[in-house]
This record gives sequence, structure tokens and C-alpha cells, in this order.
Amino acid sequence: MSKVVLAYSGGLDTSVIVHWLKHERGMGVVTFSADVGQGEYLEPVGERALEIGAVSAHVSDVRQTFVDEYVIPSLKAAAVYEEGYPLATALGRPLIAAELVKIAHEEGCGFVAHGCTGKGNDQVRIEASVAALASDLKVIAPLREWSMKSRDEEIEYCETHNIPIEVTRAKPYSYDRNLWGVSIECGSLEDPWSAPPEDAYLMTRSPQDAPDEPVELVVGYTKGAPTSLDGEEMGALGIINQLNKIGGDHGVGRLDQVENRLVGIKSREVYEAPAAVMLHRGLRALEALCWGRELSHFAGILSERYARLVYDGLWFTPLRESMDAFFNRAHNVTTGEVRLRLYKGSCTVVGRRSPHALYDMHLATYTPEDTFDHSAAEGFIKIWSLPVKSEARQARGK
Ligand code: ARG
Repeated sequence: MSKVVLAYSGGLDTSVIVHWLKHERGMGVVTFSADVGQGEYLEPVGERALEIGAVSAHVSDVRQTFVDEYVIPSLKAAAVYEEGYPLATALGRPLIAAELVKIAHEEGCGFVAHGCTGKGNDQVRIEASVAALASDLKVIAPLREWSMKSRDEEIEYCETHNIPIEVTRAKPYSYDRNLWGVSIECGSLEDPWSAPPEDAYLMTRSPQDAPDEPVELVVGYTKGAPTSLDGEEMGALGIINQLNKIGGDHGVGRLDQVENRLVGIKSREVYEAPAAVMLHRGLRALEALCWGRELSHFAGILSERYARLVYDGLWFTPLRESMDAFFNRAHNVTTGEVRLRLYKGSCTVVGRRSPHALYDMHLATYTPEDTFDHSAAEGFIKIWSLPVKSEARQARGK
């Protein structure tokens, strides 16, 4: 009997898939469910898989790996897609793919299956990652193959086949959640003109209902990675969890964008990412303080490319590793602290300091302490504007 390892969330789609792979395809189904910080108790998910007919169910807490190997590199790379999305979903996919590959080899599976639809980015990310890591594995994507078209048909399938799935009166939205944020789609959000209803949000309070008093936090970074909160040393995972909570209470991290998918369509996406928004903002402030102008501007070009690479599912590539090498070197100096003020949905940097600061008060000041050589400016400007002068003269024809 051929065996397949399925990325199993415990939801309707993947529960139907367990049964379908076993009965329609006659395969032995191994499931894998990952704790990526979606805040859901996963033990019952493994049990459900077995109940539906899986031959074995793997459940593992991969939060630390997710933070260390995916989230932090993307933070250092300032990777946000199309000016907003911190890539929570996109970063989770290569990790899940890597775990699937590991389990496939342990359990002797020749196939990997997932519950992605045929018009999303996630199928590309998982399959491109599997392709990079294990050329021997074949992929099965039941949602691209079977004839069921709606949730209702899947519920009917469950009823016909006695699949124990609690059919709750689900919200009309589709969610993908991990510790770096939530991606929200479907329902009324499909109309890009209609404002996201309050009940769509999972992690954040409405800025209107947030506390009337601002709160200030000090985030410490060591070489670009968050290492303390309000002076207390803490691992990045702990910091992210706390910032999601505090930021969420203050309504920080809501995003609403129309996005260009890799598969060619535009989609309206709503995101919540309190910790990601705060940590990105803080680190940019430290970079501004500690990086020279050329480094800052060059890094900006790479950031845009890095974000697109993550979005496009090209995580396991020499390009990503090369860009990581660049950012790791650049972040040798981004050690220091940033003061963030949260107030009714906003997150503002109100202070920054670092032993590596390039900012020099004596050069910047407009007081008598000024040491800047004003007289040197004249010669600098003369030479700086020389080409401007030549061009202008040429244009005038003299
Ligand atoms: N548009 C986002 C992305 O491509 C969110 C995808 C959400 N995925 C999901 N399976 N619900 O990364």
C-alpha cells in the first residue's frame, strides 16, 4: 500500500482529505499537524485524524524553529510584501513542507498531500519547497482534483461517510494563523469596498475600543533579533507572544490590502500582526541609527526582493541563503533599544539608542556645541554641482 503524509489542520477540508485519500485512493494516510503558534490545542487534532482513519498522526510544536529559522531572518531582512504584509502565512509554508518531507522519509511515504486550493499561493509554496528538499516525493492536492465545490458538499461527504467533524456555525471567513500573524479572507471581505467587520478579527481589539491611555514599551535587539522587553531579557518567542497580546489590546497591527497573488489574481487580504508590525518598526529605527546611508539604501532594495521571494515560495534557494548572509553581516551593529508607543491602533517609535549609533550629537546639533566644519561645505557643493552645471550648460547650447 502506498503511503502519503498529509498536512492536517483538523479542519473540514483536511479531515475530508484523510478519508478521501484512504478510501478513494486506497492509501495509508500519515498526518502531520504543527503548532506554529495558532493558539489551538492540537492533541485532539491528532486523535481526530486517527479516528477518521489515518495510520499514524504526528503532532509537533515547531514554534521555536519557526521563530529562529524563518521569522527572525525575515525580520532582519525587513521582509514585508507589497508594503504591508509581514508574510506570516508565507513563512509558515516552507517550515511545514520541511516537516512533511522529514516525516515522509521516516515513515516511508512516497507522497505528500495538502489541503490548499488551486488558486492560492500556498500550494506553490508547499510544492516548491518539497521539490527543493526531496525530488523523490510526489504531491497530491485533493482540492484541485475532486469534484466537491463547496463547504456544504464537504459537510455532506462527512455525513455520508460518518466522519466525526464538529460542524460549528463557522464564521464566513477563512483564517490562517500563526505567531507572526493572522491572514483573513472570504465572506464580505471579498468586496474590496466593504470595510472589514469587527467579527472578522481574531487578535486585535478595535482601535476605538483600545485603552484611552497610550502605553510605552522598550524592545531590546541584539544583532537584529529581539532579546529583551522593558529591560527584561527574554527569548524572541516570548517577546512575540507578549507583543501580540499588548499590541492586540491596543488595536495595533491591522492591515487591509489588495494584493497581487503569484497565481495572477488580485485578492483582498486582511491581516492582523501586532508583534510583527511592532518588531519591524523597532528594528527599522535601529537600522536608521546604526547603518550608513549606502548600506540602508542598498538593504532596502534587497528587502523588496526578499519579501517577494518568501511570498513566491522560493525559501529553499541559494538566493535566500545569500541574502540572509548579507543581512546577518549588516545586523552586526543593530544592537540597542527602541521605545515604542502604542495608542489606539498606532505604534510609533519615540526613542532609540545603541552603542553602535552613527548619530553624532556634535555633528547634528544647532547649538554652540556644533563641531561640523561649515566652511568645508562650500568646496563640497562646488564639486557636487559640477555635473549639474555642465548638463545645464549643454542643454542651453553654450
Ligand atoms: N494572501 C496571503 C498569502 O498568500 C494569505 C494566504 C492565506 N492562506 C490560507 N490558506 N488561508 O500569504
